[in-house]
Amino acid sequence: MARTVKTFACAACGSVFPKWAGRCEACGAWNTLEEQTATRSLPGGMKDSTRRAAAKLEFVGLEGKTPPPPRVPSTIAEFDRVLGGGLVPASVVLLGGDPGIGKSTLLLQASAALGRAGQRVLYISGEESIDQIRLRAARLGLSKAPVELAAATQIGDIIASIGQCPDTALVVIDSIQTMWTEGVDSAPGSVTQVRAAAFELIRAAKTQGFALLLVGHVTKEGALAGPRVLEHMVDVVLHFEGDRGHQFRILRGIKNRFGATDEIGVFEMTGAGLSEVANPSALFLAERRGNVSGSAVFAGLEGSRPVLVELQCLLSANPGGSPRRSVIGWDSGRLSMLLAVLETRCGLKLAMNDVYLNVAGGLRVNEPAADLAVAAALISAAMDVPTDPEMIFFGEIGLSGELRQVAQAELRLKEGAKLGFVHAAAPKRVAGGAGKISVPKSLSLVEIGHLADLVGVVTAGKRPGQKKECE
Ligand code: TYD
Ligand code: MG
Repeated sequence: MARTVKTFACAACGSVFPKWAGRCEACGAWNTLEEQTATRSLPGGMKDSTRRAAAKLEFVGLEGKTPPPPRVPSTIAEFDRVLGGGLVPASVVLLGGDPGIGKSTLLLQASAALGRAGQRVLYISGEESIDQIRLRAARLGLSKAPVELAAATQIGDIIASIGQCPDTALVVIDSIQTMWTEGVDSAPGSVTQVRAAAFELIRAAKTQGFALLLVGHVTKEGALAGPRVLEHMVDVVLHFEGDRGHQFRILRGIKNRFGATDEIGVFEMTGAGLSEVANPSALFLAERRGNVSGSAVFAGLEGSRPVLVELQCLLSANPGGSPRRSVIGWDSGRLSMLLAVLETRCGLKLAMNDVYLNVAGGLRVNEPAADLAVAAALISAAMDVPTDPEMIFFGEIGLSGELRQVAQAELRLKEGAKLGFVHAAAPKRVAGGAGKISVPKSLSLVEIGHLADLVGVVTAGKRPGQKKECE
């Protein structure tokens, strides 16, 4: 029997509670609980399902003749790369990102590209008027692209209209937070509305077979706003991120049922929209100054592609009080660990210093492989000796100061050589270990077994007379 249940859902994290409270117990946010009404068939639906005659399941083997999902490439290579090769028909993609980061711009460009490739694309905006979108299209030089545009927010109208458009390949909804359905009695953007609107759109996408791209807002903390369930309901979750002070933007896969999630697409916001950046390393290193202490180039990996970034470190004396550790773009716990290892294993005195660490360009590095580059930047700052501007660094550091191998060393070395670097500091290969790696001819490999060796490498040949504490 159907029964109406009143619950309270947190607008920030989507957790559901039976009672209202001023503060969400799950995420700690204040004043975010909203009333929602749901209809449940039976409390503890278990009983219900056991009442009907159970159907027998057909179990099958893992091997089968399922073809890979067909893909509709958008012809924007960086976008397709993150999706895993293009949009999958009848799949649902959620694109999140800060306001003003360029979500609408990216989707208009992707829609136009698909439209020009002969696909039928519907672009429905609940945030901007037709005129505003046309202005943007004119600015992007896309006015002539065959994209069907509408400004609407009522899900019933939208689904009925999409139903009248056969052979639609892609429907863009900008944004899901502005949509509302008649059946639900709360304001657009509330948890219940967002969930109900998304559910109806997703059902239409699955039955009609078009790819659905939903724009989602993010909260101040950077999580996708609205119910967490939205992330579970969709097939792909993408984040569009970047520093508004910088021009480049990164499209990052968070979840992907049809491909790898660690891929990134790199774009640059220009006066005429987003342009693809095929060689991100060159972009991230563009503003690097040589001969400055506290800087080291890290050969990182984002998904399957190598990316070189500059890590910058600044130390300033803080004789009293507790020193500050400020990190942008890296893990602050990892920095504390490295500082402790440098202090204990290399005798580098850093405890009385404020430490600022920055990944230049605004990229976020998640790999432990950056340890060696961070350590090099720290040593360079502590000794006021610039690192070799033609050297790249990568390697993970253990608690005893030993260097550990990282994945895809060859790819990192190749990228370094491609960008004109001539030295690479990397973990020592243990004899009989993982095997030989091929090193590009133009690159000389400096193998480092222990962090203490790094001090020698950073200070080598620079400013004679510098103190070499670890040697
Ligand atoms: P927009 O796509 O509206 O962001 P979102 O949908 O994520 O809120 O992007 C808006 C920003 O992008 C705005 O601040 C201006 C900038 N922009 C450019 O720099 N160049 C362009 O060609 C366009 C269309 C926008
Ligand atoms: Mg927008």
